[in-house]
Amino acid sequence: MTADLFGSIRIHSDPAVQFAPQLTMAILRPPTTEDAEDLAELLSQLGYPCSPSEIPARLERLMVGPNVLVTVAEHQDAVVGIITGHVLNAIHKSEPVAMLTALVVLESARGLGIGRQLVAHVEQWARTRGARTISLTSALRRIDAHDFYRKLGYEHTGLRLAKSLS
Ligand SMILES: CC(C)(COP(=O)(O)OP(=O)(O)OC[C@H]1O[C@@H](n2cnc3c(N)ncnc32)[C@H](O)[C@@H]1OP(=O)(O)O)[C@@H](O)C(=O)NCCC(=O)NCCS
Repeated sequence: MTADLFGSIRIHSDPAVQFAPQLTMAILRPPTTEDAEDLAELLSQLGYPCSPSEIPARLERLMVGPNVLVTVAEHQDAVVGIITGHVLNAIHKSEPVAMLTALVVLESARGLGIGRQLVAHVEQWARTRGARTISLTSALRRIDAHDFYRKLGYEHTGLRLAKSLS
């Protein structure tokens, strides 16, 4: 089951969806170290600049088991998006808790439906892992992203607090 989840999925446009004529075709697949430059650019656009040389070790640390999903979206032979999700067990719930932990689509590929495809993908993965809800945190300044998530059915249900440990 896990192998399927981490395998490539081809998503085709649906001409029947009249209100989303821009819906594009993306190939969803796990990242490889060859995607390092594209991923570094995406993380930079997310506000976390890094060197492509840092990517392979990050992927190796991250892609360690069935409780983590890392998926990139490929469009016209380029990696144009990435999403990560985690499921973890918690004392306050019998079923696993799912988190959408990172999402970014390349500026030049936004508005094509790729973000929606990636979110649907991580939601489906979380369902198959037994989660009943999925949540995420998003910086207050990301007003656009909040509108995007609301459009996809997400509600503002909590508050994130953070503290520097340095
Ligand atoms: C947020 C983001 C992932 C959306 O990706 P995207 O591929 O452009 O989104 P989609 O094209 O799939 O849009 C899906 C729906 O959300 C809507 N939407 C997308 N961006 C929106 C925005 N800024 N404001 C309002 N609605 C928006 C689209 O209109 C679409 O609705 P429709 O299908 O009814 O027309 C992308 O803008 C991004 O990477 N932003 C910068 C990084 C970021 O903020 N990440 C989230 C961190 S928490």
